[in-house]
Amino acid sequence: MIHLKNISKRFGKQTVLHDISVEIAPNQITGLLGPSGSGKTTLIKCLMGMEKYDAGLITINDVTVPNRKLLNKIGYMAQSDSLYHDLTGKENIELFAHMYGKRISKKHTQAILDLVQLDQDKHKLVEHYSGGMKRRLSLAITFIHQPEFLILDEPTVGIDPVLKMNIWEQLHALKESSTLFITTHIMDEAMKCDQLLLMKNQRIAASGSPQEILETYGVSDIDQVFLKLEGEK
Ligand SMILES: Nc1ncnc2c1ncn2[C@@H]1O[C@H](COP(=O)(O)OP(=O)(O)O)[C@@H](O)[C@H]1O
Ligand SMILES: [Mg+2]
Repeated sequence: MIHLKNISKRFGKQTVLHDISVEIAPNQITGLLGPSGSGKTTLIKCLMGMEKYDAGLITINDVTVPNRKLLNKIGYMAQSDSLYHDLTGKENIELFAHMYGKRISKKHTQAILDLVQLDQDKHKLVEHYSGGMKRRLSLAITFIHQPEFLILDEPTVGIDPVLKMNIWEQLHALKESSTLFITTHIMDEAMKCDQLLLMKNQRIAASGSPQEILETYGVSDIDQVFLKLEGEK
């Protein structure tokens, strides 16, 4: 279980996160939704122990973040891809598996390459991959091991609609063994989450299941919730 309690974070004089308290439910997909620059990546970095928070407390399974011991429980996909450009796609998967201390079978490697539709390009060097292909490879890497927590920062940017649907099906299948926390600024993706956290003005402005939020605000899509929140300012 992930708990954030009264988290605040500033960069110089700019407050990016203000007094954020959230519980992230296990075995669900929680979506963090907010416009660009609203602090989603910063929140995730605080959660990963990559960025220091100024106030409050973050715990994962009752262990205070940051703690190295937590890292093998977490699969993380960064917003900017961190791949080895002088290796092929397949080699990247094998190398990351090795880094996670996993022996990955040929069959499993093939299955995740198929899942993100990179089978045709698996022997190409990553430096010749397009942005979308790198994104898909990064996603494939998070599927190598089944960590207790999967934290994905805008995982489907640059991925075409059909593949995006397959990936979301896969994410829902992963719920059985993992807790997923995903950022997005795409509204139709938000509707696919079990729980949503809407960010506005450095705070969580609304939370609940997509349906609950729509009912609370009496609107038919999440965009309109943001418009209403804008009006409340
Ligand atoms: N390392 C940093 N130093 C200074 N400002 C930063 C840094 N990282 C992010 N910011 C600022 O914090 C705000 C939130 O950024 P970010 O968390 O990346 O938002 P999002 O992921 O929602 O687009 C932005 O105004 C951004 O410019
Ligand atoms: Mg971001």
